[in-house]
Amino acid sequence: MADTLTITDNRTGRQYEIPIEDGTIRAMDLRQIKVDAGEFGMMTYDPAFMNTAACRSGITFIDGDQGVLLYRGYPIEQLAEHSDFLETAYLILCGELPTEAQLEDWTREVMHHTMLHENLKKFLEGFRYDAHPMGMFLSAVGALSTFYPDAKNVFDAGSRRLQMIRLIAKVPGIAAYAYRHTIGRPYVLPDNDLSYTGNFLNMLFKMTELRYKPHPVIERALDVLFILHADHEQNCSTASMRNIGSSQVDPYSALAGAAAALYGPLHGGANEAVLRMLAEIGSKEQIPAFIKRVKSGEGRLMGFGHRVYKSYDPRAKIIKRMADLVFEVTGKNPLLETALELERIALEDDYFVSRRLYPNVDFYSGLIYQAIGFPLDLFPVLFAIPRTAGWMAQWEEMLTDPEQKIARPRQIYVGSPPREYVSRDKRR
Ligand code: CMC
Repeated sequence: MADTLTITDNRTGRQYEIPIEDGTIRAMDLRQIKVDAGEFGMMTYDPAFMNTAACRSGITFIDGDQGVLLYRGYPIEQLAEHSDFLETAYLILCGELPTEAQLEDWTREVMHHTMLHENLKKFLEGFRYDAHPMGMFLSAVGALSTFYPDAKNVFDAGSRRLQMIRLIAKVPGIAAYAYRHTIGRPYVLPDNDLSYTGNFLNMLFKMTELRYKPHPVIERALDVLFILHADHEQNCSTASMRNIGSSQVDPYSALAGAAAALYGPLHGGANEAVLRMLAEIGSKEQIPAFIKRVKSGEGRLMGFGHRVYKSYDPRAKIIKRMADLVFEVTGKNPLLETALELERIALEDDYFVSRRLYPNVDFYSGLIYQAIGFPLDLFPVLFAIPRTAGWMAQWEEMLTDPEQKIARPRQIYVGSPPREYVSRDKRR
């Protein structure tokens, strides 16, 4: 059996044999299909990339029907149980789990770069007191490109590695400073003797104590949440990172664009939107009326549905289990009951069942974040911090892939045919 696809063009009667590789045909192979020799040739039309692979990637695998998520081949459940965020970031970036010595070096390198330039603090101070932390975050990440002009050397492997370390090291500080700015508290310097997430909690919550000691359960929960958010193959923000990066701009500028894509309520802003939705629903009694409104097209059930997962998001399963551990320390989030009941009703409702809409990662993560004490508008930033590892890995993979070029989709032009300019006095 030949691995080819035979296409008959019924306009001309001509046949074409197109190679199939990995269950995929190359869109460029269709270009030869034309009626007249002078024609452009056939294209594919795929708004929102519903069925188009834009790259070959060895980083993350998702089986949306089976609810499987692997980073570099390792199941997310095993990483969430045994790994920590920095080790997982190393795995995603370098392709293999680090040895003991490699992990020690990696951790030291990252923690060595946690300080932020004083001018970046001044930059953050320029924001209004009520600025959304995600707006501050993405602006500050973009501003970092002006601090590190060496980052322009995107084809220098050493420079790329340095920027990866800098970014992973500095994003928690930017997030923490953005938060403290909005509540008018002084910025806290990093404590590099703490873990990555322990230090993040320190920079967020330290008050007058000489040394901040993170609660081990909260620190671990945050670490697991960071592992779960570290990468998710070609989603909207990652595709943005690759697209922007394909122009060969520095990674800080590209990452600012990726973070902007993440900010939207259909993507990383969904965790914030879920909590606002739960608060708006108010009580279990209001759920049927809310579901009715969603079904009639008035808004969406936030934290439900996914382009790829057509079964329960494996990350949501892990988070749901972890919530109990966190709530033992923090006390139960009062919105939990509403969320559980909402999930129960939705999973029995034919509207959601027939569309295969299940809870995604954002449905329960916000409940934990809120119980820990994070304000709602910090939630998308909490997504962006760990996703920085994934964005950087995907950026590196794109730059080192000889098949990649500047991203440039085609269009089907549906505008006016050529026409003569009309002078202002003659326009109607
Ligand atoms: N509530 C109600 N209906 C929904 C929902 C929802 N959350 N999601 C999808 N649908 C319906 C949609 O109206 C459509 O129905 P119909 O066929 O009758 O028109 C059908 O399901 C298919 O939806 P779609 O919009 O074509 O699906 P998509 O793959 O383009 O969208 C999504 C995926 C995640 C944007 C969407 O499910 C959604 O808006 N969910 C709510 C926002 C959310 O939770 N986002 C976080 C995603 S996971 C984390 C991340 O990647 O950032």
